[in-house]
Amino acid sequence: MIELRKLTKRYGEKVAVDGLTFDVRPGIVTGFLGPNGAGKSTTMRMVLGLDAPSSGSVTVDGRRYAEHPAPLHEVGALLEARRVHPSRTAAGHLLAMAATCGIGRRRVDEVLDQVGLAEVADKRVGGFSLGMGQRLGIAAALLGDPGTVMLDEPVNGLDPEGVLWVRTLLRGLAEEGRTVFVSSHLMSEMALTAEHLVVVGRGRLIRDQSTADFIASASTGRVHVRSPQADELRARLLAAGAQVSSSAVGELDVEGLTSDEIGGTAAAGGLALAELTPVQASLEEALMELTADAVEYRPGAESRAREYGPTPPGSGPGSRAGMRRRTAPARTTASTEPRTAVGATSEERVAA
Ligand SMILES: Nc1ncnc2c1ncn2[C@@H]1O[C@H](COP(=O)(O)OP(=O)(O)OP(=O)(O)O)[C@@H](O)[C@H]1O
Ligand SMILES: [Mg+2]
Repeated sequence: MIELRKLTKRYGEKVAVDGLTFDVRPGIVTGFLGPNGAGKSTTMRMVLGLDAPSSGSVTVDGRRYAEHPAPLHEVGALLEARRVHPSRTAAGHLLAMAATCGIGRRRVDEVLDQVGLAEVADKRVGGFSLGMGQRLGIAAALLGDPGTVMLDEPVNGLDPEGVLWVRTLLRGLAEEGRTVFVSSHLMSEMALTAEHLVVVGRGRLIRDQSTADFIASASTGRVHVRSPQADELRARLLAAGAQVSSSAVGELDVEGLTSDEIGGTAAAGGLALAELTPVQASLEEALMELTADAVEYRPGAESRAREYGPTPPGSGPGSRAGMRRRTAPARTTASTEPRTAVGATSEERVAA
């Protein structure tokens, strides 16, 4: 269990981490999300005592990291994967780490095998690909068979097979009862890996909730309908109090009624339905919406204009309108919430 209490880090004027209070519980994977500069890496460095908090505290299993007699057995961490001397071999790097706390060659071979690097154990790390470097970093994190595993963006640079491998590995570690804390920018990937999510922006806590609740909150309340009798259906839905817009012939976007109510209205009028789909925002969009006001690094007005056309009046730099424009260019309806229908991520989750 990792416990953060009002954890704060200032660098001069800059507040990188701003009063974070949450628990990372054992037995599940907890995803740590937020835009660039949100304070994820700084928080993780403070968990390991690599940075001292300006105020507040963070403990692992009730103690500060430095107070643990054998920290490598307590917390295994991947912070910066490429911080390995390039002329060291993979095995050499891990053996040097292992020697600091009485871990033997057998365990080094075991973790190299576990991360799929056994064949290149004696190759120099300087020649490793990004993905191999990530795997070596994960091997180092697992070396001490720790009760807590903390990884900062472990899927960065991994191919799809590698991403799947990390997902399976993390879930397996959690099932063994370990505390697993992992940061990422990829909401859809985290939704498949993590049971619980912590979202931060500008150092502050934005969400601390189950992944299921996050997915549920991504629902737009809109239902997409196709019908060969769309005009008649539209009139009946309007009469029932719905707001209806249309983006194509035979298609309706309905707000204010559930899909059950829309189906009932169609049946009562003897109208055929070809499609009836509750629309979910994509999880990436839901995350962007949540953190829109906390995004620190975004293109300036000029590069935005180059990429997306001139900025519409009333949407200055950093405005939410500008953000929406960027996140949902594909669908233009009368709705003020132009989110795209995806839903695949939650279905994948159910399937996984
Ligand atoms: N050593 C430092 N000195 C000064 N400022 C720092 C230092 N480390 C981090 N910061 C600042 O603190 C803020 C949080 O940075 P941090 O690296 O923790 O964010 P992050 O969420 O990990 O971002 P990313 O997703 O880009 O990895 C940033 O604005 C960063 O510029
Ligand atoms: Mg970071």
